[in-house]
Amino acid sequence: MYINFWYPIIKSDELGHDMPEKAMVLGVNLVAFRDENGEARVLSDTCTHRGASLGGPWSMGSAPRIVDGCVVCPYHGWEFGGDGECKNIPSIGYGTKTPPRAKVDSYPVQEKYGIVFAFLGDEPEESRSPLLEVEEYGQEGWTANDILVLDVPYYYERSIENGLDPAHNEFVHPTHGHQGVNRDTYKTSEYETEDHNQGWGFWFMHEFDSPPLPQKGDETAPDGDTPWGDAKTQRSKIFAGGGTYGPNIMPTYINLTEDKMFRQYFFEQPVDEHRTKIFFLNMRNFILDPKNNQAIHARNAVIAGQDIVILTDLNPTRTPLSPTKEVLMPADKAIVAYRDWLEKFDDMGWRIDMDEFNRTNGVGAAYAIPCPGRRTSGNWVLDEIPRVKNRTERKKIEDAA
Ligand code: FES
Ligand SMILES: [Fe+2]
Repeated sequence: MYINFWYPIIKSDELGHDMPEKAMVLGVNLVAFRDENGEARVLSDTCTHRGASLGGPWSMGSAPRIVDGCVVCPYHGWEFGGDGECKNIPSIGYGTKTPPRAKVDSYPVQEKYGIVFAFLGDEPEESRSPLLEVEEYGQEGWTANDILVLDVPYYYERSIENGLDPAHNEFVHPTHGHQGVNRDTYKTSEYETEDHNQGWGFWFMHEFDSPPLPQKGDETAPDGDTPWGDAKTQRSKIFAGGGTYGPNIMPTYINLTEDKMFRQYFFEQPVDEHRTKIFFLNMRNFILDPKNNQAIHARNAVIAGQDIVILTDLNPTRTPLSPTKEVLMPADKAIVAYRDWLEKFDDMGWRIDMDEFNRTNGVGAAYAIPCPGRRTSGNWVLDEIPRVKNRTERKKIEDAA
């Protein structure tokens, strides 16, 4: 898991104006809330007074949790603004100057695609990776489903690698593959990867064999006058692919025909090493009528469920670092491309040292993901989450484990 990227925190419509919401991301707790202007804010969740959870439960019944745009700690009522500064400490009197050290980390936020995203890291704005631009979003001729959130019990890198894997469709998804029956002719087609035009990752496209699309009246097809395909445009070859953007964002491109396309975006929230929340944005340029949304949601949930069954049992939990611990094939080229990008992020010093973190977190130490404010001011109460300096150091740590 890496600091210094944009992570989805919560769906926009789940962040109200009266209550803070707590989310664990990268193994660390965060609190999200809306300030007096309705802007979403994301802070480190650990109160610098004596460690209460800012987004945690409140025993005072109806007493407000957000006052003057500040989140109120449920333990002794300290009030923290969206900038992370402690504005009020009731025990010394409201309006009395508070010590600057009482601040908590505050992260840059963008609300887009129906999701509140936070940039979890200290990289200054000039050198920060931008949030992926979904080019079709809001464009005429395209429509978006509501965000589907999938809670899955495995490590996010395993999830991303699955989405990049063209060889699993044949065996995992009856709707995409022939369930392994074309033994005489089946072979995954060759493909090449290339760097993404927005930077920070790569993409690839390739052709694959697929059974005929569902037709009007089929159980899995949405109703309506324009079904998934018709006899004329249908083909058994689908052009599809995808790629990654940063460690945790994965676009998938599915061209059912030349003019019927899905663009699917997985914005992944690594909760910890064993859990991931996937914020799934599905865009399409056909069957635009919103009455089809539900059927598309249902179909996406079924397909995701087929992956979840397999991925829940992968061993080990993390993707192995050493190439000798797996046997990769040409069809796994996209997975290798993803791992090459991760190595670049390792060498930037952004990978969290999970072994050290797991050993000490919540026992003798409370950690925060460093926010950009740490580059411009000192005297922070919480320790920064431990990180690995580069890939060589990471290999050493894993070999020793
Ligand atoms: S622990 Fe938060 S106010 Fe005391
Ligand atoms: Fe899949």
